[in-house]
Amino acid sequence: MRFAVLTLFPDTFRFMADYSVLGRAIRNGLISLETVDVREFATDRHGTADDYQFGGGPGMVMKPDPVFAAVDAVRADIPAAERTATPVALTSPQGAILNQDLVNEFASAPGMILVCGHYAGVDERIREGLITHEVSIGDYVLTGGELAAMVIIDAVSRFVPEVVGSAENVEHDSITSGLLQHPLYTRPPEFRGMAVPEVLRSGNHADIERWRRRQSLERTLRLRPDLLDTAPLTNSDRVFLASLGWSGTPD
Ligand code: ADE
Repeated sequence: MRFAVLTLFPDTFRFMADYSVLGRAIRNGLISLETVDVREFATDRHGTADDYQFGGGPGMVMKPDPVFAAVDAVRADIPAAERTATPVALTSPQGAILNQDLVNEFASAPGMILVCGHYAGVDERIREGLITHEVSIGDYVLTGGELAAMVIIDAVSRFVPEVVGSAENVEHDSITSGLLQHPLYTRPPEFRGMAVPEVLRSGNHADIERWRRRQSLERTLRLRPDLLDTAPLTNSDRVFLASLGWSGTPD
């Protein structure tokens, strides 16, 4: 999977290439991460990437010409057959909030072009003529889109085969499975008066699975009841949830 990031601050992505899981994936050729300095595509010799707003108002606006030229340069390197299947995502607080469905959609593409928004925003023609997805990582405003792009790259990379240790790891993820994760324990069996639940040490795998499933259901009901609307639930899940006071619709 190939990530190309258009940014005014290419150095901020350097740590991702060194960072353990993604660094290893890059070194192993499973993903590639290319940063493109938008200023290098400016048409003046000062590398101007932003300008005042037409109509007046506070804050500068990212100019369209360097961004279009940078995307054209990146696209020229993408095989023609993959070009239309490669999303061009703008990071901005106005975008659709990133969730696992969107991560899965991006992970099924051959690559991604990410445009990191900055200043007051981007010239609207960038949205009109280039952007296929506008993505926010939450309802708060960051100083720039770089951290959001890193979040997207990290979340999407986990679904590139072999990036995470085994496929099992991502399939059993909290959220990916539709429910929050059950509690996890490791040694020691007793720590500061807190014991590992007996069932986990019983060796009875059917009991362990039932306990874990119920813990996931209970935790999801308590912390993220909205997930239960779309989680794949069995009849016995529904009966258990109803015993906890869940009033969700029966199948
Ligand atoms: N740029 C500034 N704030 C952002 C956010 N919440 N998500 C994505 N990009 C942003």
